[in-house]
Amino acid sequence: MASESEITNGPKHVAIIMDGNGRWAQARGRPRLFGHHAGAKRVKQNVRACKGLGVKYLTIFAFSTENWKRTQSEVSGLMSLFRQYIRREARGLRDEGVRVRFIGDRVKLDDKLIALMDELELMTAQNDEVHLTIALNYGGRDEVARATKRLAQDVAAGLLKPQDVDEETLPKYLDTYVLPDPDLVIRTSGEARISNFLLWQSAYAEYEFVDTLWPDFSPEEFGKIVKSYGRRDRRFGAVLA
Ligand code: IPE
Ligand code: IPE
Ligand code: MG
Repeated sequence: MASESEITNGPKHVAIIMDGNGRWAQARGRPRLFGHHAGAKRVKQNVRACKGLGVKYLTIFAFSTENWKRTQSEVSGLMSLFRQYIRREARGLRDEGVRVRFIGDRVKLDDKLIALMDELELMTAQNDEVHLTIALNYGGRDEVARATKRLAQDVAAGLLKPQDVDEETLPKYLDTYVLPDPDLVIRTSGEARISNFLLWQSAYAEYEFVDTLWPDFSPEEFGKIVKSYGRRDRRFGAVLA
């Protein structure tokens, strides 16, 4: 695996669309939830790998605002997996210096899950080794709509002038307001789309689409992608000298 010294201009913030759990299970003749459980196991190893790779921020897509369209049994199985995951991993994350945050709209989530999310955020709030953000009931359009609503409320209340709304102001209302923009977005499972993930924040991200299904995505593959990122020319619209 890559050591930190080898990676001088690596991505500071990596975002991952963890896709392919269902197909992974299907290929083994098992129910989709079996794939989600295998996928959850992969998260830990890849979070751990961040330290050695110099990735300070990792944001992972766990459940989208569109995923409610799945069968009731898959949705409730996923919700129960999220509760289990937080209960099982909370102490380890805290002890490994990981600061956990959640983004997405919490209102549709059940109270028990919300309480666990709050607790995990609070118990890791002092950590600063790796910042893990879990997108749960997250949709980029939904996030921008919620942000705009709060921004409009501030304008109506006289706290903000319409002429002061600009590219610096709007992101302060997004769920990600404390995070830097992602430098690199990885999607597993061979689909080349972003499925409503971090729309505003990824305007200038580099993208990497890999065929590997998420439960097979190893820290070694993660490391290779992070290393190859350093060879990319990020121009941000300018012409480099
Ligand atoms: C990603 O895996 C996990 C979630 C969306 C919760 P999928 O469940 O989308 O797996 P595929 O795409 O059907 O294989
Ligand atoms: C994106 O995967 C959402 C997550 C990984 C949580 P999906 O499997 O839901 O996306 P589509 O349906 O292929 O666009
Ligand atoms: Mg999918």
